[in-house]
Amino acid sequence: LFGHVEPAPKDPILGVTEAFLADPSPDKVNVGVGAYRDDNGKPVVLECVREAERRIAGNLNMEYLPMGGSIKMIEESLKLAYGEDSEFIKDKRIAAVQALSGTGACRLFADFQRRFLPDSQMYIPTPTWSNHHNIWRDAQVPQRTFTYYHPESRGLDFAGLMDDIKNAPNRSFFLLHACAHNPTGVDPTEEQWREISYQFKIKNHFPFFDMAYQGFASGDPERDAKAIRIFLEDRHQIGCAQSYAKNMGLYGQRAGCLSILCEDEMQAVAVKSQLQQIARPMYSNPPVHGALVVSIILNDPELKSLWLKEVKGMADRIIGMRKALRENLESLGSPLSWDHITNQIGMFCYSGMTPEQVDRLTNEYHIYMTRNGRISMAGVTTGNVAYLANAIHEVTKT
Ligand code: LMR
Repeated sequence: LFGHVEPAPKDPILGVTEAFLADPSPDKVNVGVGAYRDDNGKPVVLECVREAERRIAGNLNMEYLPMGGSIKMIEESLKLAYGEDSEFIKDKRIAAVQALSGTGACRLFADFQRRFLPDSQMYIPTPTWSNHHNIWRDAQVPQRTFTYYHPESRGLDFAGLMDDIKNAPNRSFFLLHACAHNPTGVDPTEEQWREISYQFKIKNHFPFFDMAYQGFASGDPERDAKAIRIFLEDRHQIGCAQSYAKNMGLYGQRAGCLSILCEDEMQAVAVKSQLQQIARPMYSNPPVHGALVVSIILNDPELKSLWLKEVKGMADRIIGMRKALRENLESLGSPLSWDHITNQIGMFCYSGMTPEQVDRLTNEYHIYMTRNGRISMAGVTTGNVAYLANAIHEVTKT
């Protein structure tokens, strides 16, 4: 019956973790998946999360959440993305549902797009997080790409980006990374976001923001919502996928939120009911634990400020590791420029290494990363940075 089923290709990101786990070498280093580690290379549970869990213990029943998820968690998520005093929240113009983290939020939106805007396409940046392509492919929404990264400068190709926005048919859908672009670590400046928003307005494009790293770009979740706020000021309708995987370290809890800013409350009610209809046959209703943790933390001023401190702590450790990696490479006498390691932001460094160079890192040095040359800076520690720099130097020097 299943004889025709071929093994699926390995996932370009999660497949790296599998290979890392299978390697018995004591020297092995995992800078593949974007998952935060402390300076000993260990996964971190935030103190604010521990405290929220202490408060939950014993008080939680295991009842189903509604199809759309936890109302409290959604309310807090909207404040985080749209602003504490957002008029759109007050006017109840936002249709929002709890989602299975950022991936689930994107997938719900993609399915909604296919169902209600069957002629639309999704413009996706080049490059982007590899799973974006899978999500819109499986939802059967045609994909187009738009220019984003400039390989020579290792920065933003702003002219190319603006041209592609202008040349797309009016009312196109664009996937934008709200902050800390994955994989490049390259974000538009505030001024550039304003120009992008202005051009979107002219073209009547719909921006869908994937905000998987709120807090990891600047260390401050409020500042990292700037791009979204600019689009809101310009009175766009927007969509937004939020994830608490990275900024609360809730990776496996699958806590996230999908929101769509509608024209009015009536439309928001209709859109939300349709999102719930999409969720019901897929997973019925979302998991309860992570949502509770999120709403407890964001609802309690003391826990929220502890969270903000801890997010900043994670972002700062990564910035420190960027400096250390660059300095190590420079002191080894690398003839190449490594400025981009410290210029890029967020969890990733888009190193510019080729797939062949990455293969050498893996085969000769047991260093695991995605073949597009992306280094998850969250996996770099004071203990492995010299080893990593040396290996990078060895594979890039000729
Ligand atoms: C990543 O880009 O490494 C993360 O978003 C993890 C994932 O699911 O791919």
